[in-house]
Amino acid sequence: MPLERFRDRSAIVTGAASGIGRATVARLVAEGAAVLAIDIAADALDASVAEANAGAAAGGKAVARIADVSSEGDAAAAVADAVAQFGTLDALCNIAGILRTVRTEACTLELWNQVIGVNLTGTFLMCREALPHLVESRGAIVNAASTASFFGHPWMAAYAASKGAVAALTTTLAVEYSKQGVRVNAVAPGSVSTGITASVDFPADLTKEEQKLVHRIMSPTGMGDAASVASVVALLASDDGAHMTGEVVRIDGGTHA
Ligand SMILES: NC(=O)c1ccc[n+]([C@@H]2O[C@H](COP(=O)([O-])OP(=O)(O)OC[C@H]3O[C@@H](n4cnc5c(N)ncnc54)[C@H](O)[C@@H]3O)[C@@H](O)[C@H]2O)c1
Repeated sequence: MPLERFRDRSAIVTGAASGIGRATVARLVAEGAAVLAIDIAADALDASVAEANAGAAAGGKAVARIADVSSEGDAAAAVADAVAQFGTLDALCNIAGILRTVRTEACTLELWNQVIGVNLTGTFLMCREALPHLVESRGAIVNAASTASFFGHPWMAAYAASKGAVAALTTTLAVEYSKQGVRVNAVAPGSVSTGITASVDFPADLTKEEQKLVHRIMSPTGMGDAASVASVVALLASDDGAHMTGEVVRIDGGTHA
């Protein structure tokens, strides 16, 4: 029997145009969810929504919405749009994220603020706007943390700091909203083949000794795929995760086992 955990349920997925967000939209729609799929990349978002709708089941559907999660106005309008279209909001999946690699001594304030703005502030803004609706539905939030939340990832200071903070935001909201029935969890992927990893550009002047540090973040079982992370996002967003809150689930193919 195919799973229908999201029949008659609605969700927002950010970062929906690519990688883990795209796979999450497809997974939720295949299980019956009405999904507002949010991204800044219009063409790729349209392709993602078309792909999800082609695999829709149990009444599921995806609707595209261009929004920048780091914009207070965009975040508020996107949540309002989801509630207006679907009548309720059962799940928020904050998957949008960016990665910039640079030696920390060369990290400009602009680059720092850009990464924190999307990964951390964007996650906060979407949570803040969605929480009143999730309290009403006793719904769930799933955030995108990273193994960088917990383990040193050289040349990714802004990214790692943002992801450490996303993990802290996740556990804090889990406790704060526990009495109102909102569950808040995160996934912490290691290396997954997506747009982010394809565009990683380590500093060109790394010494041989420094290059060895890259192996710290390599999985002994190879890179993961986006669908294997999306399946855990779906579990946490669904009633199968009913007794899970404040959890940051590592999905790294054994990198940090
Ligand atoms: N791929 C990995 O190895 C890995 C590992 C750990 C954590 N993560 C996290 O998983 C999440 C998804 O990453 P991915 O690997 O699928 O990357 P990806 O680059 O394939 O997808 C990220 C998506 O976020 C969108 N986005 C960027 N800025 C945005 C903004 N301001 N507003 C709305 N959308 C925006 C991009 O357009 C893109 O479609 C990210 O938060 C990332 O940090 C990924």
